[in-house]
Amino acid sequence: MKPQVIEVKQKYKDYLNNREGADTYNRFKEILYGTPDSLITRLLPEIAARLKSEKIDILDIGGGDGKRLRWIMELLKASGIESRATLVDQSSAFIENLHRTIIDHKQQYDIAPIHSSFEEFSSEKSFDLVMLVHSIYTFKDTQYISNIKKCLKKDGLLVIIADEPRGFLAKLKDITDKSYDTKRKDLDSVRTDLTSAGFVFEEQSSITYYSDCIEHGKLNEDGKLIVSWIALRDYNDIPKDILDASIEHFRMSSRNGRIEDEESFLFVRFPNDETNP
Ligand SMILES: C[S@@+](CC[C@H](N)C(=O)[O-])C[C@H]1O[C@@H](n2cnc3c(N)ncnc32)[C@H](O)[C@@H]1O
Repeated sequence: MKPQVIEVKQKYKDYLNNREGADTYNRFKEILYGTPDSLITRLLPEIAARLKSEKIDILDIGGGDGKRLRWIMELLKASGIESRATLVDQSSAFIENLHRTIIDHKQQYDIAPIHSSFEEFSSEKSFDLVMLVHSIYTFKDTQYISNIKKCLKKDGLLVIIADEPRGFLAKLKDITDKSYDTKRKDLDSVRTDLTSAGFVFEEQSSITYYSDCIEHGKLNEDGKLIVSWIALRDYNDIPKDILDASIEHFRMSSRNGRIEDEESFLFVRFPNDETNP
């Protein structure tokens, strides 16, 4: 009998498909970025400066429960840019949340939620802004690139945000993924795919600081939640060697009681766009 392969990309999708996993991810975001979401506050002026129209169609791929998308749409509106959006996500837990939010705020947000994997998604229309905010990690081959090419307008902007492979969380993933037989897709591999497909892109580094989560030599509740999200399982189910290595990673990365983490913003366009820098 063949040994069973434990696939981290499938585990990731399953984890976010149930309410407990979805709630853990949302709490993780609050710990790292606070409210309002500092990642989006940092990103928005960069997007607004690159858009070419004051009325845009957005496609948010792996947009989760749409909280970030709503915040982006509000900030765009405040900068004089009207938007309507389509959000595609494979998680039923997140899509149900988004449906509820749209019912509660009927007049406020023009968002069409689509419960689907991006691999199976197709659209008649193309979009001015396509976003992949921390949603690259399950892509298997380069099919996502062909799909993006179909969805993005010729002068459109693709924005990708992901953990920088040398950063704290990416390294924590390297530790926790030792309990799986496969690895998640990372930003370096996306950079390679984009270049091979002929896209051009500029990059910006984004640094987030948060508490080192260590109290009396142990991880506090926030630290446990971060490890649990990255390991994609309940804290008590994490194998001891993985847990010990994760805690050591927190200790080694701590500077004056805080952690510095790095993400990257990629601003991607088709190559023949003359307005490219
Ligand atoms: C880390 S969450 C990010 C959610 C949101 N973009 C944010 O920044 O809060 C990753 C999201 O991507 C979704 N996702 C992952 N792989 C996907 C795929 N192949 N197709 C559609 N959604 C996917 C997950 O269900 C999840 O909601």
